[in-house]
This record gives sequence, C-alpha cells and structure tokens, in this order.
Amino acid sequence: MTDPLKSRVVRHSPSTGEGSPDVWGIYEPDTGSIQYICADPATRQAALIDVVWNFDPKNYRFSTESMDQVLDIVRDNDLKVQWVLDTHPHADHVMASAHLKERTGAPNAIGALVPEIAGIWAGLYNLPDAFDPTRDFDHLFEEGETFRIGDLEAKVMLSPGHTLGSITYVCGDAAFVHDTLMQPDAGTSRSDFPGGRTDELWDSIQAILALPGNTRLNVGHDYGTKERKEPMWEATVDAHRAHNIHVKDGTEREAFIERRQTRDKTLALPNRILAALQINLRGGRLPAAEGDGNHYLKLPVNRFD
Ligand SMILES: [Fe+2]
Repeated sequence: MTDPLKSRVVRHSPSTGEGSPDVWGIYEPDTGSIQYICADPATRQAALIDVVWNFDPKNYRFSTESMDQVLDIVRDNDLKVQWVLDTHPHADHVMASAHLKERTGAPNAIGALVPEIAGIWAGLYNLPDAFDPTRDFDHLFEEGETFRIGDLEAKVMLSPGHTLGSITYVCGDAAFVHDTLMQPDAGTSRSDFPGGRTDELWDSIQAILALPGNTRLNVGHDYGTKERKEPMWEATVDAHRAHNIHVKDGTEREAFIERRQTRDKTLALPNRILAALQINLRGGRLPAAEGDGNHYLKLPVNRFD
C-alpha cells in the first residue's frame, strides 16, 4: 500500500453555499506542502495559492510535476486561473509563481512587506540589487485589502510572525493561513527565521482564531504525527480553539512564546532554504543565466547557527 505521506494526495472541500469557495488541497510530499485552488463555483474563476516548483536538493534539479498536477485539476474542473498567489516567500520550497504566471497569464501577488524581507536577505546573500518584489510580482497586498475571485470577495490579513511578510487570504468561509498554524494535533510553525517574531506570530494567530468558528482554516504544511499517518490540512477555527496543542483556548501568550522559542532553538535550517529564498524573492525565477548559459545560486557560509 502506498504511504499517503509520500503521495500527491488531493482533496476537494466543496463550497458550503453562497459566498463560499470550492477549495482543492494538493499535497506535495517532498516538502510536506499543501498547494491550494480556491474557486468561485458560479464563475469558475480561481486563485492558485502557494504552488510548488519541485526542487531536488540532492541533485540540484528542478521539475514541474506539482504545478502540472495543479493545472490538470484546473483544466479537469473547467476553472480559469485569475490569480497566482503566495502567502510568503517560502523557506522550504521553491514557488511556482513566475512559471504559473507565464502558463496561465494571470497576475502574481504576495504581501506588501515582502520587500522588507528581501532587504534582510539581500544583506545575508550580499546581493544588494538582486531582489525587487515590485518588479517580480504584479501586486503586493496591503492589510485589509480586498479583491475578487470571480464573484467572491477575498480579503487580506497581514499575519507576521513566521516571516514578517506573511499574509492570510480569507475568502468566504475559507482562509489560507500557511505557516502560522499547523493542524490542531501539530500546533504552530516556527518563528525563528530572520525577520520572524514569536510575539507577532501569537498576535497573528489570535486574529485568525477570531474569524467565525466555522471558517475552514487551510494550513501550508503537514508532516503527519506519530499517531496520524496521513496528511491533513483543513480544520475549522472552532477545532483549533478546542484542540490546537499550542494555542487552544486558555493558552497564555507568555507560555506560548516560551514553548515556541524553546522548540525553535532545536531546529536546523530547512534543507532547501538558501536555494529557495534567493529564487522566491525573485518571484520564483532563477538568477539570470551567466555567460556560459547556466544559472548559478549563491550560498552564504558561517552565517547561521
Ligand atoms: Fe514558510
């Protein structure tokens, strides 16, 4: 039997009625990432969220099977891509944004504070002119900004903490919270990357948990747990408030901060981070080819503990 945590599991979470989107979650097993399609059932217009450009860090090779799979689901369900969205510049996988923009013609977007993250990493890579999110993304979303997916209204919440530029997309009774929350039985995501802050992560999570109790929260990663051997990614606000092992109702802010920071101190860098960020901060593009026609990445050494 195939291991679900090593499979490209797809689940459809249907619209619950007027104003509610159809959501597909597509699991990317190499990085435990969940990619989303959020669609208006009436007009078939859809946003793609946090889609992966596959990167094998053992052989330094890229491939497109994840975005191909997502676009197959788009085609099979007669959807039309209206937006290519990311919640933040991911540290553990490379984003498909630039490719998807080219393949679908839809504009790509991310949060308004991503230029600040780009500034931090331009320093860490000593690449002062490499990153310009205003060049590589068609739109940078501000706090509270609204936009449409077909006839549905979507709203942006800035959700700093995991990174300073993370955002949450809320569309009807679905929200895409990426690396703020994990599933209730796994808790929350780390807050120790450059620009990350545990106190801000707490505040961002509280704002998400203040959404209506039936809101379907869709997380960005899942790796299963000791007891749970299949990937899960959707749980309601009510389920998180009742069961989330890090932030359920009754948790004290200081206790969360202490617990999160203690855990983060034990974590190594994700194995793709130094390749991923210098591509993601270019909107999912490799650095320009050099004179020999090949692309090269740059690695800072002795910069991280
Ligand atoms: Fe992340």
